[in-house]
Amino acid sequence: TGTGTVRAALGGPVVYAHRGASAYAPENTLDAIDLAMQMGFPWVENDVQRTKDGVLVVIHDDTLARTTDVEQRFPGRAPWKVKDFTWAEISRLDAGSWFGDEYAGASVPSLRQYLDRVQRNQQRLLLEIKKPELYPGIEEQTLKVLDEAGWLDERHVTKRLVVQSFSADSVRIVHGLRPDLVTAFLGTPTVADLPRYAEFTDRINPWHTTISADWVAAVHALLGAHGKAMEVDTWIVDDAATARKVQAMGVDGIITNAPDVVQEAVGGF
Ligand code: G3P
Ligand code: CA
Repeated sequence: TGTGTVRAALGGPVVYAHRGASAYAPENTLDAIDLAMQMGFPWVENDVQRTKDGVLVVIHDDTLARTTDVEQRFPGRAPWKVKDFTWAEISRLDAGSWFGDEYAGASVPSLRQYLDRVQRNQQRLLLEIKKPELYPGIEEQTLKVLDEAGWLDERHVTKRLVVQSFSADSVRIVHGLRPDLVTAFLGTPTVADLPRYAEFTDRINPWHTTISADWVAAVHALLGAHGKAMEVDTWIVDDAATARKVQAMGVDGIITNAPDVVQEAVGGF
């Protein structure tokens, strides 16, 4: 995969900028992916959800409260669920000030806006379908937006894009709709259960506290949905000691808010 190529070039695990370079810029904004690129990190991770009127947007929480000024702008609309606000409303929120005054005016991007910026930056995307149980049909809709933005062309699909979810059902649906697409399951299946996952996905992406070298080896021993050894990208590792620990376990990638810290720890550029 493209991930493998990058890893070989760098001589260590691939470093993914989680929600963009989110230790240094407001998560899931265009500023956060631009900063990741400026720092030298082509791979960015994001979270996709859906507005009331059916627009896919990039935001982590299922409410707008933590990362926007929605409480001030719409005080009567608690609990400020993403799915209860229209795109016209969400697109005008300030998604940067909570992080720092210098980011005032940053907005919640639509998935299409986000894809176009990743494309312009020549970056690569680890796209998470977040809370799909809240958004029936979001898998098919996400693929449609990816297709419209040119992301399902052959030259991209296996090189620049991985789709992941905590929902095994969602990953299975994506694989069924676009079998050529590389996918990942977020979680830590038991070694006994891993073969069931290998039928529909290529990568297993676990929380770092849940893994061991033996577990990573058990994943690597399996052939995934595309007939290649399965890979492991672990999250969220923001300190050097933990980065070295998971590197020693043999992970293929590390998903981090502080990509510079992790890259330095696992071998620099
Ligand atoms: O990419 C892995 C990580 O993003 C999963 O957790 O809650 O940050 O989406 P969360
Ligand atoms: Ca995520």
